Amino acid sequence: MGKFAERMNRLGTETAFEVLAKARALEAQGKTIVHLEIGQPDFDTPDNIRKAAVDSIWAGETGYGPSAGMMKTREAVCRYIEKDRGLSYAPDQIVIAPGGKPIIFYPILALVDHGDEVIYPNPGYPIYESAINFAGGKAVPLKYSEERDFRFDIAELEAKINKNTKMLIVNSPQNPTGGVLEDSDLKRIAELAVENDVVVLSDEVYSKIVYEGEHRTIASYPGMQERTILMDAHSKTYAMTGWRLGYSAMPKDIAEKFTKLNTNTYSHATTFVQTAGIEALEGPQDEVDKMVKIFKERRDAIVDGMNSIKGFSCLKPKGAFYVFPNITATGMDSQTLADKVLNEAGVACLSGTCFGAMGEGYLRFSYANSLENIEMGVERIRKMMG
Ligand SMILES: Cc1ncc(COP(=O)(O)O)c(C=O)c1O
Repeated sequence: MGKFAERMNRLGTETAFEVLAKARALEAQGKTIVHLEIGQPDFDTPDNIRKAAVDSIWAGETGYGPSAGMMKTREAVCRYIEKDRGLSYAPDQIVIAPGGKPIIFYPILALVDHGDEVIYPNPGYPIYESAINFAGGKAVPLKYSEERDFRFDIAELEAKINKNTKMLIVNSPQNPTGGVLEDSDLKRIAELAVENDVVVLSDEVYSKIVYEGEHRTIASYPGMQERTILMDAHSKTYAMTGWRLGYSAMPKDIAEKFTKLNTNTYSHATTFVQTAGIEALEGPQDEVDKMVKIFKERRDAIVDGMNSIKGFSCLKPKGAFYVFPNITATGMDSQTLADKVLNEAGVACLSGTCFGAMGEGYLRFSYANSLENIEMGVERIRKMMG
C-alpha cells in the first residue's frame, strides 16, 4: 500500500463508533453491556413516515433527482421553516442532504480556505474540528463551560474574532453537554457576526428536543438570515438516524456551491427517503411530542442517578438527550474512567475528550435508552465507585 495523501492526517473522527465496537466485542465474550454511548433515539421511526417511504418506492420514485433535493422536498422545507421558525426562504436556498453531517462538511469545504479561522464549540461535536482541519482552515475552540451552564463566555468570543475569522459554528441544544444558548447569547453572536462579516453555521439537529422554553434560531436575529447556514435533520427528531436525511437553508450563492459538491459525490439524498421526509415534516407531530416527554423523564432520572455516584456531579441539561457529568473528584482522567466504566461496570459511555480537549474532566452519557437500563447503568457505576 502506497503512502496516503497528506490531507488524511488532518481528518478526525467520531469515537462513539469505536466505543460501540469495543462494547460489542465485550458482548461477544458473553458480558452484558448497558449502552449509554449512542446518540440515537431508541424509538422506531413513526409508522406514517415508514408508510410514506414504502408508498414512494411502489410509486416508482427510484430514479435520479436534482442534486439540491427534489423540488417538492425543498418546498416542504420552506413551508416548515416558515411555520416553525418564522423565516421565509425560496427553494433555491434549500439543500437536502443525506443526514446532517454533509451540511457541516460541505459548506465548510466550500467556504473555508487555508488561513481562514473558524470558531467552534469545545467540547463539541467532533466533526466540526475535523472538517475545519481537513479544509485547511484554523480551528479556534470556544469553551462551553459548566460554570456557565454549558454556554460560552461572550468576552472570550469577542477576543477570538479577528479579521481572519470566516465562520462561527453554533450548536444549540448542544452535543455533548445538553446546554442551550440563551437569547442574550444569540443576540450578541448575531451582532458580532454582522460587525465582523462572519458566516454562522447553525447546527440545530436537536431543535425539537428542548425541555424548557422554545428553540430559537440564530438566523432569526437582525442581519442573520443572509449570513447563516441553518442546518437541521430528521435523524434525532423523527428517530430516523439510519435513513440519512438532513435539510438546510442558506444564502443562494452558498447553496449553489454546496449543491455542486453534492453533484460531485452522492448526487442527492435518496428520493423515496426525501418523500418520507416530507411526511415527517408535514404529518402529525404527536410521536415527537411523546418522545420528548419520555426523554424528559429519563433526563430527570439520570441526573439524579449521576449525582448519587461518588465523585460525579451533574448539571440538569435543558436540551438534547445527553448528560455531561463532571468527574474530576474521582481523581481519574476521563478516558481512564470511561474505559474502567466499560470494562468493570459494563456500561458504555464516552470520555469528554471525544468532544475535544476541553471535555477533559467529564464523561458523556446518552439517555436515549429505557429508564430500566438507565437505572441499571447508574447502579453498576455506583457500585464500582464504592
Ligand atoms: C450536534 C450534531 N450535529 C450533527 C449530527 C449528525 O447528524 P446526522 O446523523 O443527521 O448526520 C449529530 C449526530 O450525532 C450531532 O450530534
